[in-house]
Amino acid sequence: MLQTPYYLIDKSRLRANMEKIAKLRDLSGAKALLALKCFATWSVFDFMADYMDGTTSSSLNEVRLGHTRFGKETHAYSVAYADHEIDEVVSHADKIIFNSISQLTRFERQSAGIIRGLRLNPGVSSSTFDLADPARPFSRLGEWDISRVEPVMDLISGFMIHNNCENGDFELFDSMLSRIEQEFGPLLKRAEWVSLGGGIHFTGEDYPLEKFAERLKRFSGDFGVQVYLEPGEAAITRSTTLEVTVLDKLFNGKDLVVVDSSIEAHLLDLLIYRESAKVHPDAGPHRYMVCGKSCLAGDVFGEFDFPEALEIGDRISIQDTAGYTMVKKNWFNGVQMPSIAIRELDGSLRTVREFGYADYEESLS
Ligand SMILES: Cc1ncc(COP(=O)(O)O)c(C=O)c1O
Repeated sequence: MLQTPYYLIDKSRLRANMEKIAKLRDLSGAKALLALKCFATWSVFDFMADYMDGTTSSSLNEVRLGHTRFGKETHAYSVAYADHEIDEVVSHADKIIFNSISQLTRFERQSAGIIRGLRLNPGVSSSTFDLADPARPFSRLGEWDISRVEPVMDLISGFMIHNNCENGDFELFDSMLSRIEQEFGPLLKRAEWVSLGGGIHFTGEDYPLEKFAERLKRFSGDFGVQVYLEPGEAAITRSTTLEVTVLDKLFNGKDLVVVDSSIEAHLLDLLIYRESAKVHPDAGPHRYMVCGKSCLAGDVFGEFDFPEALEIGDRISIQDTAGYTMVKKNWFNGVQMPSIAIRELDGSLRTVREFGYADYEESLS
């Protein structure tokens, strides 16, 4: 048995998402680029590259990783590039999408050799959480004023619009796209390609994949554009667990267990978005609050029901931990960094990364 904590990527579960992505590409003609901000564990990139068209990025480091480790088509995007980064960014990218007209014109000369695009902000999104809402008031994410975009149309051939967030509701996607078509139609007609970003949960169980594909195909046909999607979460959802071990038991009015991991260090989004972790099946007569081992008082994975009483040394599998987890892990409290392991299609386990004291020490100076 591998030493916990470790993230365990299950390739057969990952393949289920990949097959849906491949089907969507076939049915719709859209291209699918993995959003590295969500998942950048490159040991499975070769596997994913058979089903996806490439990667998209949010920084110089990501575009370089996408180009060197995933290959295929590489999109560069960043909220803002620095002068000293831009040449290297361009050297790794097939397309560069600028967040603002100001960045586009600033780097016009350096980016002249590759395909260029601009991010549009349609002012509407599916997010209900202000922190993650790209269309929040005064948002810096993309241009929205058509009269300002028109004069720079000669510099670009496409757009990126990312306004879906955890959106599993096809009707909502459809109605927002219709609004975008109405509002930005004249610009879209002049484009050769449009990326509709990520945030669409089309690999979910009940998502109407055929209707989604038909809608993308219609959009592509009406405006004469190659459609791109940038799935992050949809590509890796339900593929990975975080395996932890019970280190201690307490009773403080509730039964508590402390495990050898921490949400602040290893599942940071639970804290940011105030969500509970998931365990499966989460059923049985023994209820515990599962707590992390950092000093943060609220370092709590959640309260779950277990079939048997938990004992020190027992293992717990935290579900669905691929997205925005490994890319955000940190050394808070010096808590042992989870290893990364892969369950191959034949069921065998392979550890692809282990972290030790040297990694902790080297993360600082
Ligand atoms: C521009 C862009 N593309 C793609 C994504 C990936 O989104 P998700 O992981 O929700 O699919 C994001 C997420 O924030 C994004 O900002």
